[in-house]
Amino acid sequence: MCGIIGFIGRTDAAPILIEGLKRLEYRGYDSSGIATISSAGKIEIRKEIGKIVELEKIIKHNPINGKIGIAHTRWATHGGATVTNAHPHIGQTGKITIVHNGIIENYATLKKHLEKEGREFTTETDSEVIVHLIERYYFDTDNQDDGSPLTRLEKAVSDTVKMLEGTFGIAVLCDEVPDTIIGARKGSPLVIGIGKDSMFIASDINAFVTYTKQVIYLDDNEIVTINRDTYQTKNFERAPVSKDIEEISWDVDEIGRAGYDHFMLKEICEQPDSVRNAFIGRLLYEQATAKLGGLKLSNKDILNIDRILITACGTALHAGMVGKYIIEQLAGIPVEVDFASEFRYRNPIIRPNTLVLAISQSGETADTLAALREAKQKGATVMGICNVVGSTIARECDGGVYVHAGPEIGVASTKAFTSQVTVMILLAIYFGRVRGLSRDIANKLMKEIEKLPGAIHAILDSKEKIKKVAVKYAGTKHAFFMGRNDQYPVALEGALKLKEISYIDANGYPAAEMKHGPIALIDEEHLTVALAPDSPLLEKMIANIQEIRARNGKIVTVTDTKNQMIEKLSDDVIKIPKVHPALKPILMALPMQLFAYYVAVAMECDVDQPRNLAKSVTVE
Ligand code: G6P
Repeated sequence: MCGIIGFIGRTDAAPILIEGLKRLEYRGYDSSGIATISSAGKIEIRKEIGKIVELEKIIKHNPINGKIGIAHTRWATHGGATVTNAHPHIGQTGKITIVHNGIIENYATLKKHLEKEGREFTTETDSEVIVHLIERYYFDTDNQDDGSPLTRLEKAVSDTVKMLEGTFGIAVLCDEVPDTIIGARKGSPLVIGIGKDSMFIASDINAFVTYTKQVIYLDDNEIVTINRDTYQTKNFERAPVSKDIEEISWDVDEIGRAGYDHFMLKEICEQPDSVRNAFIGRLLYEQATAKLGGLKLSNKDILNIDRILITACGTALHAGMVGKYIIEQLAGIPVEVDFASEFRYRNPIIRPNTLVLAISQSGETADTLAALREAKQKGATVMGICNVVGSTIARECDGGVYVHAGPEIGVASTKAFTSQVTVMILLAIYFGRVRGLSRDIANKLMKEIEKLPGAIHAILDSKEKIKKVAVKYAGTKHAFFMGRNDQYPVALEGALKLKEISYIDANGYPAAEMKHGPIALIDEEHLTVALAPDSPLLEKMIANIQEIRARNGKIVTVTDTKNQMIEKLSDDVIKIPKVHPALKPILMALPMQLFAYYVAVAMECDVDQPRNLAKSVTVE
């Protein structure tokens, strides 16, 4: 989704902004642009559609100087992916320019008013109203006596943001205040980076992490004014707000590709470590429980929970669905899982003892954030299971658990999923122990959890075999993924991975549902991936595989057991190590990820930046 980076320092802004934009590429975008205040004191803008390299070409041809600037990657919502619609947008005096993330819901009404006043719009975007409004207030005669250009600009921005409905993170430049960037946030993240003789503003810290690890997270309804060596945070009424400077712990190395062809492959291969990071220090054998202190729940609170509602989007939702099975089994608490986008609008029933879990890798997904706010408003205790430390969801929840997967850059989520499921299992142990789960069962499971990194390694060691299978199916038009019980969400996740990066039409189903419709599509061209680990339901899975085979469908089966029927009925079999039944969803996810990855690579797809998708979906 859209990305923002702004810089003020002693060196040329353009190369730093371009580097920042490249670090934001993973979020997904279809055009980009940059604005600086040049050494001549004028606003200069360059914009282009396509990848950042295209923008670089434009800049090479027509250089842009200045030690202050803002830049943007745009993921089209209002208006096509054109150069005109790309940000930064400039007002009609040419003195003010802005970049915007989010959606302005009342833009049509605002635009009508502004047009009536004689302002001419040049783009189809919702964002353009912002620059016109700021310009209107800045040059408003009532505002003229209000002190310096800086004070007038701050007032104009604050008057503007109060008019906007929807979500925004904005950065503003004005050539009459050539040493200042103003940022404002409501519902779309903005973070300030404090560098040496320089300052940054960005929608995510990846954009500037090579320069500084000292950050300030802006909260909703806050404005920041930054100069090369100072910053001032205020609320929308322009009253000062004091903010803490935080130190981020990510290493720069962690966000490079480290020799892998793609971030996705790197992140798949990091899972022995990322899963270990999710459980390390959290297994307490003495008390036979998992330590999740960030939840800030007493035993009494846990005993009182009568229902858990899990809400999330995409891959995080699938992790929540796996969580349902294990929490119900170990802790005996009923669990419902719902798409955040549905939850927020369906008037969910929340009682005093309902616990809501919001799962999100980025911690910024607009629907998940709205769902948790809705739940909080209705009186629920809301916990966040997030990866990005300090993200909005993490900060707005009553408590939570970080999954510690490290930065995930590939648009197709991989290591976040296995870490989220690991945390779900820890949560089930923790709640289970308070509610009567035996020491023995808990300790045995925890010992098995410690074996996970080794088992994941074993799958990664066999990735060439998975690749061989995958390339055979490159170009397949349609695929089903089927599983039963806690393998059903893994089937959904397998299908999601494949469609996200290879554009193959792939769908996941509970295996028994196949006969209620989907099986009508099976023919000799159709691929089905069967998730068939050893379990009490294995025979039933084999029956489902037989039904596909009887209709001449192609079958790839993923299993951890040697079974003659599976060998006989499947075109290909992918074997994985045997682990504790509760941990099988984690291991089964690995072949799903590798299969999708190798199919997409064989089809020459852009694995890390698949078309139309965004890593962090910060709009509805
Ligand atoms: C987007 C991403 C998915 C992700 C989903 C939820 O659709 O492309 O990979 O699962 O958002 O994101 P979150 O950051 O909330 O986990």
